[in-house]
Order: sequence, then structure tokens, then C-alpha cells
Amino acid sequence: MTMELEELLGAVQKRFRPYDGQLPAFSALPAKGVARTELLDLLAKMEHGEEGPWKKGRVSGAVYHGEREHAKFATRAYALSSHTNPLHPDVWPSLVKMESEIVAMTAHMLGGGASTRGAVTSGGTESILIAMKAYRDWSRAKRSITEPEVVLPVSAHVAFDKACHYFGLRPKLVPLTEDYAANVEAVKTAITPNTAVVVGSAPCFPYGVVDPIREMSEVAKDAGVGFHTDACLGGFILPWAKRLGEDVPTFDLGLPGVTSISADTHKYGYAPKGTSVVLYSDPEILHRQYYVAKHWPGGIYFSTTMAGSRPGGLVAAAWATLLALGEEGYLELAKKVLAAAKELRSGVAKVPGVHLMGPSPIVAAFRTEPQDVYQVMELLSQRGWFLNGLQNPPGLHLAVTLRQTPPAVVRSFLRDLRWAMKEAATGSGTGGLAPVYGLASTMPDDAVEEFLDSILDWMYHGS
Ligand SMILES: Cc1ncc(COP(=O)(O)O)c(C=O)c1O
Repeated sequence: MTMELEELLGAVQKRFRPYDGQLPAFSALPAKGVARTELLDLLAKMEHGEEGPWKKGRVSGAVYHGEREHAKFATRAYALSSHTNPLHPDVWPSLVKMESEIVAMTAHMLGGGASTRGAVTSGGTESILIAMKAYRDWSRAKRSITEPEVVLPVSAHVAFDKACHYFGLRPKLVPLTEDYAANVEAVKTAITPNTAVVVGSAPCFPYGVVDPIREMSEVAKDAGVGFHTDACLGGFILPWAKRLGEDVPTFDLGLPGVTSISADTHKYGYAPKGTSVVLYSDPEILHRQYYVAKHWPGGIYFSTTMAGSRPGGLVAAAWATLLALGEEGYLELAKKVLAAAKELRSGVAKVPGVHLMGPSPIVAAFRTEPQDVYQVMELLSQRGWFLNGLQNPPGLHLAVTLRQTPPAVVRSFLRDLRWAMKEAATGSGTGGLAPVYGLASTMPDDAVEEFLDSILDWMYHGS
């Protein structure tokens, strides 16, 4: 590794492992258990040290609710079921009831019909992985496709590329329009006889833009291929935004071409981290997601998703969250988030040299000119902001959650952004993690991969 990269690795290490040498470290099981009070104190100390940025609304996305009473209620629901496991429906039929109700409530919210079926997964990535695996097997069974392709706008979440990598699918990337939405004509051209599924986002992660799902799904339907809406981010807020009169294009199972959709309970569903829902308009596609083993010596085995044992406590917490909030609760929270996002976007657009990337109800993505946007990011991080760095083209985004809804948060962000733009114009902000975001454009892929591998090795090596 070059000297430059070694230095960069040092900066990453400082950020990711600040407790080295600062807190008791455990590289093997202690011979005798550590006192429970001591461990709870240690956990509280770490949490206390880390809660500042997200509680103050300085972290993009990540924590969608975070109010103390809400968290207390959800963790109480978790605690009551922390020992339960949906793998044993005979022992815990309560989980069958709760999972099927989570699926039904989500389907009802997202335009599902009488034939809509689905499952609860561990998060957006698993919903996407398992759906892509289902399309692979469905297209093989129904259309004899042996080299299946997935048509993906470049803004689609990286979990789709991960699915292609895991399951032997070929990603067919398509470009965006000037507004950072999927280009329908390019989608049409990318479809071949090998296409298993077309993907659209509502909205996409990088820019928060809702793709033209109606048009894209019609193209897919005409071609006789599946269409997956990735509403992991927007599934639990866009329906309420629509009800509140926002101009949100239709994106859900109500469209005849949409054959599946993913929506995360652990994002704007406000449940604790660890659940998402994937839904299909046709149970036959869902069946390609299931795994059943008939002859295993361990007995007949069947599971809906990729995991075996699963945390029933998280199912209970998600179920309780959906029911405690109800439509009224979701509408009220959506109103606050949408108002804060509007305020943020209009403020950002007024900062000289800052340019919004695409229209979005919940995200402010922007690029800067002539300032280097990663320097701006580094300077903002010095003021305690944790934003997401974008690439191709370089940019930044702040995804708005309830944490940014107190007006003082948006005001302080805009003040700090104006300051960072001025500082970056003088050449400040070149250190820290800024160069990491520009890496892929300046180094060969192999070197970037080696660098990222070494970060992961280093992060999780024992003390
Ligand atoms: C549009 C979109 N899809 C999928 C995901 C993946 O979700 P998860 O991080 O829960 O795996 C995200 C995460 O932010 C997302 O924004």
C-alpha cells in the first residue's frame, strides 16, 4: 500500500476505533464473568459518548425516530419476546400472527390486492437480495432464462448489485435523466430476452428522487418481465406524503406492472433496526423466494427468507410500532419530516455555489462548484455533521428524518454549510476522510478494493 493510502488508513482507524487503549478490551472470554452492572455501565458510557450527533439531528438518515418514549415502548415490546424465533411457529404462533399482520398492513398501505403476499426480512438489503433470487428462479422456471439480467438505473441501491454478485445475475446499468431519475427510454433499450426483472426506486438512496415507476413498470409489463419497486426508503412515508397532498408519483402495487415492492419498517416505519417487508403481486414469485428441504435428516425444513433462526423480538417491536402509530401517527410524523425537508432544500439551494441534485420530498442531495464537495463534507464533519458522500458525480446528501425536524437543526446546518463553502474556497478541508470519497475516481479498482478490504480487516480484528 502506498504511503498516501497508509496515512488515509490511519485517519479511518482513528474514526472507527476510538476506544482502542481507552476502554477495557476483551480478546478472549474472561475466565469469570464480568459483573453485569459493570457491563451495563460500559454500554451506557459508549452510548452516551455516541448519542450526541444523532440526537442533535446531525446524522443523515440512520435514526428515523429516536424519541425516548417511543424507543422505550419498542424496546419493551422487544424485551417481552427477545427469546422467540419465527423458525418455530409451533412454539411461538404469536409470531405467525404478528408477521402476517405486518405483511397485511404494509400491503394495504402499498396498493396490494387480494393476491398480494409477502414476508418480513431483516432489512432493506435482505428484502432486495431475496426478491432478486426469487426473480432469478422464477424467470428460469417460467421463461427458461439461464443467464438472467437485472435492468438497474445507476441510482438503484447497491444491494441490487450485491444480489447480482451473490446469485449470478447480470446487472444491466442504465443512465439517469438530467433530473437524476431513471431514464425510461434507456430502460426500454436495456431489456433483452434475458431480462428477469426491471428495478425502480421510490425514492433512490443517492438523490432521494422517485423514479417514473408508472412508465417503467409499463415498459416491463409490455416486455413480459417482472418489475420491483425499491421503496425501502420511501415505503412508509410516500403514501402519507401523497395523502397530505404532496405531488408524489404512484409507485406501488396498485400499478399493474409492479410485481413486487420492498419497504422498510426500520426506516420511516419507525421500528427498531432489523426489519423490512417484501411483497409480491403474484404468490408464484414469492414461492421462488421460499426455501424448503424435504429429505434432510434434521427433519422437514422450510423458511421464508435467507436466515434460519430470526429475532422474534424485532417482529414484535415492529408490529407494536405499526399499531401504536396507526395512520394518524404516520401522517403526523410525515408532515413534520416533509416540512423540514422543504425548509432544508430551499435553504441549501440559496447557498452560493451549492446546486441541488434532483427533486426529492425527503433528501437534500447537492454538489458544489467550484469548491470540492468532499472538502465541504470534511469541514462539515469538523462541525459535527455526518453526511453521506456521493460519487459519479461527486456530491453530498442529507436524508431528513424526525431528528432534523426541530427548526434549529436546519438553521444550524445552513449556517455551517455557508461557513464550509467559504472555508473550502480558501483551500481548507483537505485532510480527514475527504480523500476516501474521491478514491474510486483517482485509483485503479484493484487498489481501491485492497484498501477497503484492509479497512474491514482492521475494523474487526481482535484487540
Ligand atoms: C432506497 C434504498 N434501498 C435499500 C436500502 C438498503 O436498506 P438496508 O440498509 O436496511 O439494508 C436503502 C438504505 O438506505 C435505501 O435507501
